[in-house]
Amino acid sequence: MKIFIDTANLNEIKEAADMGLLDGVTTNPSLVAKEGHKDFKSMLEKICSIVDGDISAEVVSTDYEGIVKEGRELAKIHKNIVVKVPLIKEGLKAVKTFSSEGIKTNVTLCFSPSQALLAAKAGAYLVSPFVGRLDDISYNGMELISQIVQIYGNYDYQTQVLVASIRHPIHFVESCLMGADVCTMPFKVIEQLAKHPLTDIGLEKFLDDWKKLNK
Ligand code: G3P
Repeated sequence: MKIFIDTANLNEIKEAADMGLLDGVTTNPSLVAKEGHKDFKSMLEKICSIVDGDISAEVVSTDYEGIVKEGRELAKIHKNIVVKVPLIKEGLKAVKTFSSEGIKTNVTLCFSPSQALLAAKAGAYLVSPFVGRLDDISYNGMELISQIVQIYGNYDYQTQVLVASIRHPIHFVESCLMGADVCTMPFKVIEQLAKHPLTDIGLEKFLDDWKKLNK
């Protein structure tokens, strides 16, 4: 299971990288806007200098020519850039082109198994089903992950399932059990993965007992 951080906040990326468990970074236009990065290229260069792994950078064009032009420019920034493309018809056409040029893609905004199948057929490197946003509208986000993992297994597609829109550690654990390839999470959820109240209580007791012994 690869762990990616879902943020454009450089401090959070550094802190997660220092924990020694970060395999990549995903960004999207909303996350970049939230951090106020006006210079997208320089932001991506900084991220690539912090993390040696897949760094997803999203296009904002919605037509084939625009997506291809933008994606080729993004791919030139660093060898680890993965071009993030929306799961729309024009996007799938562009993914096919990128795949023939050896440019890695992350097909995003996936909400159904049929969309995921088309992304794999187009040659996507990663597909990003959004589990939290499905849960938000009373669909079972994790059921989608289970379906995609099964379908990709049935036909031996190499596209990696990147579970996105993760809101809590249970999404992560279920993704691991289902055999998804990657989970991308906000920094807060990465921190939650390491936390357990019994660890904190146990540690406090160990340290208290040690102090008593050495009084
Ligand atoms: O980066 C895509 C995805 O992870 C967004 O998550 O929380 O905005 O639904 P969220």
